[in-house]
Amino acid sequence: MSTSAKRAVERLDVLYGLGSGRGANRPGGSEVEQQACELAARWMEEAGLEVEWDPAGNVVGRLLGTQPELPEICTGSHLDSVPAGGKFDGALGVVAGLEAVAGAGTRTRTLGVVVFRDEERGCFGSRALVEREPLPGRFVEVHVEQGPVLERAGAPLGVVTGIVGYTRREVVFEGTAGHAGTTPMAARDDALAKAAEFVLRARDAALGIEGAVATVGSLEVDPGAVNVIPGRVRLTLDARAPDAERLDRLLAALGLDPEPRNAPVAMDESMRAVLREEIERLGLPAPEQPSGAGHDAGVLAAAGVETGMLFVRSLNGGASHSPDELTSEEDVALVIEVLAAALRRLAG
Ligand code: HGY
Ligand code: MN
Ligand code: MN
Repeated sequence: MSTSAKRAVERLDVLYGLGSGRGANRPGGSEVEQQACELAARWMEEAGLEVEWDPAGNVVGRLLGTQPELPEICTGSHLDSVPAGGKFDGALGVVAGLEAVAGAGTRTRTLGVVVFRDEERGCFGSRALVEREPLPGRFVEVHVEQGPVLERAGAPLGVVTGIVGYTRREVVFEGTAGHAGTTPMAARDDALAKAAEFVLRARDAALGIEGAVATVGSLEVDPGAVNVIPGRVRLTLDARAPDAERLDRLLAALGLDPEPRNAPVAMDESMRAVLREEIERLGLPAPEQPSGAGHDAGVLAAAGVETGMLFVRSLNGGASHSPDELTSEEDVALVIEVLAAALRRLAG
Protein backbone atom coordinates (compact mmCIF):
# COMPACT_ATOMS: atom_id res chain seq x y z
CA MET A 1 0.00 0.00 0.00
CA SER A 2 1.34 3.50 -0.83
CA THR A 3 2.81 5.72 1.91
CA SER A 4 -0.02 8.12 1.25
CA ALA A 5 -2.71 5.50 1.84
CA LYS A 6 -0.89 4.21 4.94
CA ARG A 7 -0.78 7.75 6.34
CA ALA A 8 -4.48 8.23 5.61
CA VAL A 9 -5.37 5.00 7.41
CA GLU A 10 -3.21 5.96 10.41
CA ARG A 11 -4.87 9.37 10.57
CA LEU A 12 -8.32 7.81 10.52
CA ASP A 13 -7.29 5.86 13.61
CA VAL A 14 -5.96 8.98 15.33
CA LEU A 15 -9.19 10.89 14.64
CA TYR A 16 -11.28 7.91 15.78
CA GLY A 17 -9.37 7.90 19.06
CA LEU A 18 -10.29 11.50 19.92
CA GLY A 19 -13.05 12.00 22.46
CA SER A 20 -14.26 9.14 24.63
CA GLY A 21 -16.80 6.34 24.58
CA ARG A 22 -17.75 3.74 22.01
CA GLY A 23 -17.21 4.78 18.39
CA ALA A 24 -16.49 8.27 17.14
CA ASN A 25 -17.67 11.01 19.49
CA ARG A 26 -16.86 14.43 17.97
CA PRO A 27 -20.12 16.36 18.30
CA GLY A 28 -20.46 19.43 16.09
CA GLY A 29 -19.44 22.56 17.97
CA SER A 30 -17.63 20.57 20.65
CA GLU A 31 -14.08 20.88 21.94
CA VAL A 32 -13.33 17.47 20.39
CA GLU A 33 -14.45 18.62 16.94
CA GLN A 34 -12.18 21.66 17.37
CA GLN A 35 -9.31 19.37 18.39
CA ALA A 36 -9.87 17.27 15.25
CA CYS A 37 -9.86 20.39 13.06
CA GLU A 38 -6.65 21.66 14.67
CA LEU A 39 -5.06 18.28 14.00
CA ALA A 40 -6.13 18.46 10.36
CA ALA A 41 -4.76 22.01 10.14
CA ARG A 42 -1.43 20.76 11.44
CA TRP A 43 -1.38 17.95 8.87
CA MET A 44 -2.13 20.54 6.16
CA GLU A 45 0.80 22.70 7.33
CA GLU A 46 3.11 19.68 7.47
CA ALA A 47 2.12 18.96 3.86
CA GLY A 48 3.15 22.48 2.86
CA LEU A 49 -0.38 23.77 2.27
CA GLU A 50 -1.46 27.33 3.07
CA VAL A 51 -3.95 27.06 5.93
CA GLU A 52 -6.92 29.39 6.43
CA TRP A 53 -9.55 29.30 9.19
CA ASP A 54 -12.72 31.03 7.98
CA PRO A 55 -15.19 32.91 10.23
CA ALA A 56 -17.39 29.79 10.55
CA GLY A 57 -14.47 27.73 11.82
CA ASN A 58 -14.04 25.77 8.59
CA VAL A 59 -10.37 25.10 7.88
CA VAL A 60 -8.98 25.10 4.33
CA GLY A 61 -5.57 23.89 3.18
CA ARG A 62 -4.48 25.25 -0.21
CA LEU A 63 -1.83 24.31 -2.76
CA LEU A 64 -1.55 27.52 -4.76
CA GLY A 65 -1.79 27.24 -8.53
CA THR A 66 0.23 29.13 -11.13
CA GLN A 67 -2.91 31.18 -11.84
CA PRO A 68 -4.34 31.73 -8.34
CA GLU A 69 -6.80 34.26 -9.71
CA LEU A 70 -8.77 31.40 -11.34
CA PRO A 71 -11.62 29.80 -9.31
CA GLU A 72 -10.09 27.06 -7.18
CA ILE A 73 -10.89 23.36 -7.20
CA CYS A 74 -11.82 21.98 -3.79
CA THR A 75 -12.37 18.69 -2.04
CA GLY A 76 -13.12 17.89 1.60
CA SER A 77 -15.75 16.78 4.09
CA HIS A 78 -16.46 17.00 7.84
CA LEU A 79 -14.81 15.83 11.09
CA ASP A 80 -17.78 16.06 13.42
CA SER A 81 -19.66 12.82 14.07
CA VAL A 82 -22.94 11.48 15.37
CA PRO A 83 -22.80 10.01 18.89
CA ALA A 84 -21.06 6.58 18.82
CA GLY A 85 -20.40 7.13 15.12
CA GLY A 86 -18.16 5.35 12.67
CA LYS A 87 -14.48 5.79 11.87
CA PHE A 88 -14.97 6.80 8.22
CA ASP A 89 -18.03 9.11 8.03
CA GLY A 90 -16.62 12.52 7.08
CA ALA A 91 -13.09 11.75 8.22
CA LEU A 92 -12.30 9.68 5.12
CA GLY A 93 -13.13 12.62 2.85
CA VAL A 94 -10.78 14.84 4.84
CA VAL A 95 -7.75 12.53 5.05
CA ALA A 96 -8.15 11.36 1.42
CA GLY A 97 -8.57 14.95 0.26
CA LEU A 98 -5.47 16.00 2.15
CA GLU A 99 -3.41 13.26 0.48
CA ALA A 100 -4.80 14.03 -3.00
CA VAL A 101 -4.20 17.80 -2.74
CA ALA A 102 -0.79 17.55 -1.10
CA GLY A 103 0.38 15.04 -3.68
CA ALA A 104 -0.99 16.87 -6.74
CA GLY A 105 2.00 19.09 -7.44
CA THR A 106 1.53 22.70 -8.51
CA ARG A 107 -1.27 22.99 -11.07
CA THR A 108 -2.78 25.90 -12.98
CA ARG A 109 -5.64 26.32 -10.51
CA THR A 110 -5.32 26.40 -6.74
CA LEU A 111 -6.36 23.14 -5.07
CA GLY A 112 -8.04 23.27 -1.66
CA VAL A 113 -9.06 20.68 0.94
CA VAL A 114 -11.80 21.85 3.33
CA VAL A 115 -12.92 20.64 6.73
CA PHE A 116 -16.55 21.76 7.06
CA ARG A 117 -17.83 22.31 10.61
CA ASP A 118 -20.84 20.68 12.19
CA GLU A 119 -22.20 18.72 9.24
CA GLU A 120 -24.29 16.24 11.22
CA ARG A 121 -26.54 18.80 12.88
CA GLY A 122 -27.23 20.68 9.66
CA CYS A 123 -24.17 21.38 7.49
CA PHE A 124 -23.50 24.62 9.33
CA GLY A 125 -19.95 25.04 8.03
CA SER A 126 -20.74 24.47 4.35
CA ARG A 127 -23.84 26.67 4.58
CA ALA A 128 -21.67 29.47 5.97
CA LEU A 129 -19.01 28.91 3.31
CA VAL A 130 -21.43 29.26 0.40
CA GLU A 131 -22.61 32.61 1.79
CA ARG A 132 -19.15 34.02 1.12
CA GLU A 133 -17.48 34.80 -2.20
CA PRO A 134 -15.60 33.51 -4.05
CA LEU A 135 -17.12 30.03 -4.22
CA PRO A 136 -14.90 27.15 -5.34
CA GLY A 137 -14.97 26.67 -9.17
CA ARG A 138 -15.72 22.95 -8.71
CA PHE A 139 -15.97 20.64 -5.67
CA VAL A 140 -15.56 16.87 -5.14
CA GLU A 141 -16.45 15.12 -1.87
CA VAL A 142 -15.21 11.64 -1.03
CA HIS A 143 -17.50 9.85 1.41
CA VAL A 144 -18.26 6.32 2.54
CA GLU A 145 -21.47 5.07 0.96
CA GLN A 146 -23.07 4.28 4.33
CA GLY A 147 -25.21 1.69 2.57
CA PRO A 148 -24.95 -1.83 1.05
CA VAL A 149 -25.07 -1.08 -2.71
CA LEU A 150 -21.33 -1.09 -3.56
CA GLU A 151 -20.62 -4.08 -1.31
CA ARG A 152 -23.42 -6.06 -3.00
CA ALA A 153 -22.14 -5.00 -6.45
CA GLY A 154 -18.55 -5.93 -5.58
CA ALA A 155 -17.45 -2.42 -6.55
CA PRO A 156 -14.92 -0.53 -4.40
CA LEU A 157 -15.95 2.92 -5.66
CA GLY A 158 -19.08 4.56 -7.03
CA VAL A 159 -20.25 7.92 -8.41
CA VAL A 160 -23.15 9.78 -6.81
CA THR A 161 -25.96 10.97 -9.11
CA GLY A 162 -27.72 13.15 -6.56
CA ILE A 163 -28.74 13.58 -2.92
CA VAL A 164 -32.26 12.90 -1.68
CA GLY A 165 -34.54 15.61 -0.36
CA TYR A 166 -34.75 15.66 3.44
CA THR A 167 -36.08 17.53 6.37
CA ARG A 168 -35.72 17.32 10.14
CA ARG A 169 -38.52 18.38 12.41
CA GLU A 170 -39.25 18.64 16.11
CA VAL A 171 -42.80 17.51 16.95
CA VAL A 172 -44.38 18.11 20.39
CA PHE A 173 -47.34 16.19 21.79
CA GLU A 174 -49.23 17.78 24.68
CA GLY A 175 -51.28 15.72 27.12
CA THR A 176 -52.23 15.89 30.78
CA ALA A 177 -49.85 14.59 33.39
CA GLY A 178 -51.59 12.50 36.00
CA HIS A 179 -51.43 9.70 38.52
CA ALA A 180 -50.68 6.34 36.88
CA GLY A 181 -52.68 4.49 39.53
CA THR A 182 -55.78 6.55 40.11
CA THR A 183 -56.55 7.96 36.63
CA PRO A 184 -58.99 5.70 34.76
CA MET A 185 -57.82 4.75 31.25
CA ALA A 186 -60.88 6.42 29.68
CA ALA A 187 -60.04 9.67 31.45
CA ARG A 188 -56.44 9.94 30.27
CA ASP A 189 -54.83 12.37 27.86
CA ASP A 190 -51.55 10.48 27.46
CA ALA A 191 -48.97 12.46 25.44
CA LEU A 192 -46.75 9.41 24.91
CA ALA A 193 -49.60 7.31 23.52
CA LYS A 194 -50.20 10.08 20.94
CA ALA A 195 -46.49 10.22 20.13
CA ALA A 196 -46.36 6.44 19.74
CA GLU A 197 -49.19 6.58 17.18
CA PHE A 198 -47.22 9.22 15.28
CA VAL A 199 -44.06 7.07 15.26
CA LEU A 200 -45.95 4.15 13.73
CA ARG A 201 -47.75 6.45 11.27
CA ALA A 202 -44.37 7.79 10.10
CA ARG A 203 -43.05 4.26 9.63
CA ASP A 204 -46.13 3.13 7.71
CA ALA A 205 -46.28 6.26 5.53
CA ALA A 206 -42.63 5.81 4.50
CA LEU A 207 -43.17 2.10 3.83
CA GLY A 208 -45.93 3.09 1.41
CA ILE A 209 -43.77 5.51 -0.65
CA GLU A 210 -41.03 4.01 -2.86
CA GLY A 211 -37.59 5.16 -1.67
CA ALA A 212 -38.93 7.25 1.25
CA VAL A 213 -37.60 6.88 4.79
CA ALA A 214 -38.76 8.29 8.11
CA THR A 215 -36.99 8.03 11.44
CA VAL A 216 -37.86 9.17 14.94
CA GLY A 217 -34.38 9.20 16.38
CA SER A 218 -34.97 10.87 19.70
CA LEU A 219 -37.91 11.31 22.05
CA GLU A 220 -38.19 13.10 25.41
CA VAL A 221 -40.99 12.28 27.86
CA ASP A 222 -42.04 14.82 30.47
CA PRO A 223 -42.03 14.44 33.44
CA GLY A 224 -40.61 10.98 32.70
CA ALA A 225 -41.50 9.15 35.90
CA VAL A 226 -42.63 5.55 36.09
CA ASN A 227 -45.90 6.37 37.85
CA VAL A 228 -46.89 9.56 36.01
CA ILE A 229 -48.97 9.72 32.82
CA PRO A 230 -46.78 11.63 30.31
CA GLY A 231 -47.94 15.23 30.02
CA ARG A 232 -45.63 16.23 27.15
CA VAL A 233 -43.46 14.48 24.56
CA ARG A 234 -40.93 16.08 22.23
CA LEU A 235 -39.62 13.96 19.38
CA THR A 236 -37.44 14.49 16.33
CA LEU A 237 -38.38 13.32 12.87
CA ASP A 238 -35.93 12.77 9.99
CA ALA A 239 -37.90 12.38 6.73
CA ARG A 240 -36.36 11.83 3.29
CA ALA A 241 -37.42 10.94 -0.25
CA PRO A 242 -35.74 10.77 -3.65
CA ASP A 243 -37.81 13.64 -5.11
CA ALA A 244 -39.91 16.62 -4.00
CA GLU A 245 -43.24 15.00 -4.89
CA ARG A 246 -42.61 11.97 -2.68
CA LEU A 247 -41.27 14.11 0.15
CA ASP A 248 -44.44 16.22 -0.08
CA ARG A 249 -46.57 13.06 0.11
CA LEU A 250 -44.67 11.78 3.14
CA LEU A 251 -44.97 15.05 5.05
CA ALA A 252 -48.63 15.47 4.11
CA ALA A 253 -49.39 11.98 5.43
CA LEU A 254 -47.96 13.15 8.77
CA GLY A 255 -49.83 16.45 8.77
CA LEU A 256 -46.57 18.43 8.48
CA ASP A 257 -45.79 21.50 6.34
CA PRO A 258 -43.71 20.82 3.23
CA GLU A 259 -41.19 23.50 4.25
CA PRO A 260 -38.48 23.87 5.55
CA ARG A 261 -36.57 21.13 3.76
CA ASN A 262 -33.36 20.46 1.84
CA ALA A 263 -34.52 19.98 -1.74
CA PRO A 264 -33.21 16.97 -3.66
CA VAL A 265 -30.08 18.04 -5.52
CA ALA A 266 -28.35 16.59 -8.60
CA MET A 267 -24.59 16.20 -8.94
CA ASP A 268 -23.06 17.92 -11.96
CA GLU A 269 -23.05 15.78 -15.12
CA SER A 270 -19.55 16.82 -16.20
CA MET A 271 -18.17 16.05 -12.74
CA ARG A 272 -19.86 12.65 -12.78
CA ALA A 273 -18.19 11.95 -16.13
CA VAL A 274 -14.73 12.93 -14.83
CA LEU A 275 -15.12 10.70 -11.76
CA ARG A 276 -16.48 7.76 -13.79
CA GLU A 277 -13.58 8.05 -16.27
CA GLU A 278 -10.94 8.21 -13.54
CA ILE A 279 -12.39 5.13 -11.81
CA GLU A 280 -12.59 3.23 -15.13
CA ARG A 281 -9.01 4.20 -15.91
CA LEU A 282 -8.02 1.87 -13.04
CA GLY A 283 -9.99 -0.91 -14.72
CA LEU A 284 -12.71 -0.72 -12.06
CA PRO A 285 -16.49 -0.61 -12.51
CA ALA A 286 -17.96 2.86 -11.92
CA PRO A 287 -21.57 2.28 -10.80
CA GLU A 288 -23.72 5.35 -10.17
CA GLN A 289 -26.27 5.75 -7.41
CA PRO A 290 -28.19 8.39 -5.43
CA SER A 291 -27.17 9.25 -1.87
CA GLY A 292 -29.73 8.62 0.87
CA ALA A 293 -27.47 10.55 3.23
CA GLY A 294 -27.11 14.30 3.26
CA HIS A 295 -23.66 15.78 2.65
CA ASP A 296 -21.82 19.09 2.51
CA ALA A 297 -21.57 18.41 -1.23
CA GLY A 298 -25.35 18.86 -1.38
CA VAL A 299 -25.04 22.36 0.05
CA LEU A 300 -22.38 23.34 -2.47
CA ALA A 301 -24.34 21.84 -5.36
CA ALA A 302 -27.49 23.69 -4.26
CA ALA A 303 -25.41 26.91 -4.21
CA GLY A 304 -24.53 26.36 -7.87
CA VAL A 305 -21.03 24.91 -7.49
CA GLU A 306 -20.31 22.17 -10.06
CA THR A 307 -20.14 19.30 -7.58
CA GLY A 308 -19.35 15.59 -7.70
CA MET A 309 -19.19 12.86 -5.07
CA LEU A 310 -17.12 9.70 -4.95
CA PHE A 311 -18.56 6.91 -2.80
CA VAL A 312 -16.27 4.36 -1.17
CA ARG A 313 -17.61 0.90 -0.39
CA SER A 314 -18.99 0.39 3.12
CA LEU A 315 -18.56 -3.17 4.36
CA ASN A 316 -20.62 -4.92 7.11
CA GLY A 317 -23.76 -4.56 4.99
CA GLY A 318 -23.24 -0.79 4.77
CA ALA A 319 -23.36 -0.19 8.53
CA SER A 320 -22.88 3.48 9.38
CA HIS A 321 -23.57 5.98 12.15
CA SER A 322 -22.27 3.16 14.34
CA PRO A 323 -18.90 1.69 15.40
CA ASP A 324 -19.58 -1.13 12.91
CA GLU A 325 -18.83 1.23 10.00
CA LEU A 326 -16.01 -0.32 7.98
CA THR A 327 -14.11 0.39 4.76
CA SER A 328 -11.04 -1.58 3.68
CA GLU A 329 -7.56 -0.08 3.53
CA GLU A 330 -7.38 -1.18 -0.12
CA ASP A 331 -10.48 0.86 -0.93
CA VAL A 332 -9.03 3.87 0.93
CA ALA A 333 -5.93 3.60 -1.26
CA LEU A 334 -8.05 3.37 -4.42
CA VAL A 335 -10.16 6.43 -3.64
CA ILE A 336 -7.07 8.54 -2.94
CA GLU A 337 -5.66 7.51 -6.34
CA VAL A 338 -8.90 8.35 -8.17
CA LEU A 339 -9.45 11.62 -6.31
CA ALA A 340 -5.86 12.73 -6.98
CA ALA A 341 -6.24 11.99 -10.70
CA ALA A 342 -9.56 13.83 -10.87
CA LEU A 343 -8.23 16.89 -9.03
CA ARG A 344 -5.12 17.09 -11.20
CA ARG A 345 -7.33 16.92 -14.28
CA LEU A 346 -9.76 19.57 -12.99
CA ALA A 347 -6.97 21.91 -11.88
CA GLY A 348 -5.21 21.85 -15.26
O1 HGY B 1 -27.86 12.52 8.22
C1 HGY B 1 -27.19 12.43 7.20
O2 HGY B 1 -27.69 12.10 6.16
C2 HGY B 1 -25.71 12.71 7.23
O3 HGY B 1 -25.05 11.68 7.87
N1 HGY B 1 -25.44 13.96 7.88
MN1 MN C 1 -23.14 11.19 9.06
MN1 MN D 1 -21.06 12.37 6.61
